[in-house]
Amino acid sequence: MKIKYHGHAFVQLENAKHSIAIDPFITGNPSAEIKPADVKCDYIALTHGHGDHFGDTVEISRKNFAQVLAMFELANYAESKGARSVHTLNLGGSFNFPFGRIKLTPALHSSSTPDGAYAGESAGILIYMDGMTFYHAGDTALFYDMKLIGETNKIDYAFLPIGDNFTMGIDDAVKAAEYVNAKNIIPVHYNTFDVIKVDANEFKKKITAIGKKCIIMKPGDTIEA
Ligand code: NI
Ligand code: MN
Repeated sequence: MKIKYHGHAFVQLENAKHSIAIDPFITGNPSAEIKPADVKCDYIALTHGHGDHFGDTVEISRKNFAQVLAMFELANYAESKGARSVHTLNLGGSFNFPFGRIKLTPALHSSSTPDGAYAGESAGILIYMDGMTFYHAGDTALFYDMKLIGETNKIDYAFLPIGDNFTMGIDDAVKAAEYVNAKNIIPVHYNTFDVIKVDANEFKKKITAIGKKCIIMKPGDTIEA
């Protein structure tokens, strides 16, 4: 398994057969190191409808024949905008795909489409693939039920927003890391814009202090999971 990070909340999970792009925001993302046309994937999973997550979903879906997996209203929106195919889910629901299983978890955040329409609830995403469990928290505040997500899953990698202003900041994200109890914590959703500038090394120090592993990925980085 490979984990690729493309900046902001755009994470790509890949094995020999499948590639899932999560929140592929490239156009308008000053930290993106690739172009939408460079993305190769067969699935796109979305946490919510905001432009910095929905991003280049339609173009990438059309080019790759990639299926969009998202909250009911958001997946239908993607289809109405020209996505090749979609699979609708809702909070707490999971489904087996050829690459593995996806489950949408709650997230404490708003959600609307880039043109302002209702996009359903915001979500986090659990991905069970190649015997590993990944948790992309999406945009979210800290909430106590993250503890339940950690109790009912043995999470190998958790992607947590740390940028503050729109989501958890560093201290809340450290608490979230404790709750979800993942082996590895990867900070996302920071430094893309001025209002979400934070020091990832401070986060790493605090995560290390609670006995967990923090991996800081730069846009363009790939790690072996
Ligand atoms: Ni958002
Ligand atoms: Mn966001």
